[in-house]
Amino acid sequence: MLKNNDIEGVVKYRFPEAVALIITKNKTGKVDLCPVGFFTLASWEPKAWVISVYKTHYTTSVLKDTKEFVLCLPSFEQVEDVLYCGSVHGWKIDKTKNIKLKFIQSKHIKPPLIDNSIACFECKVAEEYDAMDHVLFLGEVVASYESNKNWKDKIYNWDDKKLGTLKLGGKSKKINYSPVG
Ligand SMILES: Cc1cc2nc3c(=O)[nH]c(=O)nc-3n(C[C@H](O)[C@H](O)[C@H](O)COP(=O)(O)O)c2cc1C
Repeated sequence: MLKNNDIEGVVKYRFPEAVALIITKNKTGKVDLCPVGFFTLASWEPKAWVISVYKTHYTTSVLKDTKEFVLCLPSFEQVEDVLYCGSVHGWKIDKTKNIKLKFIQSKHIKPPLIDNSIACFECKVAEEYDAMDHVLFLGEVVASYESNKNWKDKIYNWDDKKLGTLKLGGKSKKINYSPVG
């Protein structure tokens, strides 16, 4: 049986939600980092991520201007810096001054990669779409990197800003990803 509830109450069932860090660099060279839960792989060939960023975030303005971002999957060891980056805006603050994350130069775009993260993708914005109070940026992957860290180190949002990891319990079942017809 289903019962009606307000949308705010029901939308929480999307948790746990993986967290990515979006790294941008403005035209004067300032690096900013913005955690997002609203992201997904949106194209397979070529590979492209879609990220959804709130209209008034500093990141949105930089992305509209520069059309480049790094999508980083941070490891749980980096959770404090991730939370910090999600608690202040880059309009006036230089977040890089208050975090321990180490940057590595990207190959094809200006925003840097994050050392010791699980994975990083250099992305070039191919399209942007209005999404009500957010903007969707479709970023084609032009380079990708991995570390020796495991997906189990990935950061998940369990509910409102309570961040943890996801551990698979029991046996996993194989599913067929190539249905015919
Ligand atoms: C776990 C977590 C997930 C978040 N997910 C999103 C998201 O999907 N989209 C978004 O626009 N903001 C999201 N935020 C909020 C931004 O990260 C936050 O407002 C940040 O300070 C914006 O930085 P900026 O103004 O420098 O771009 C999230 C924050 C946290 C902590």
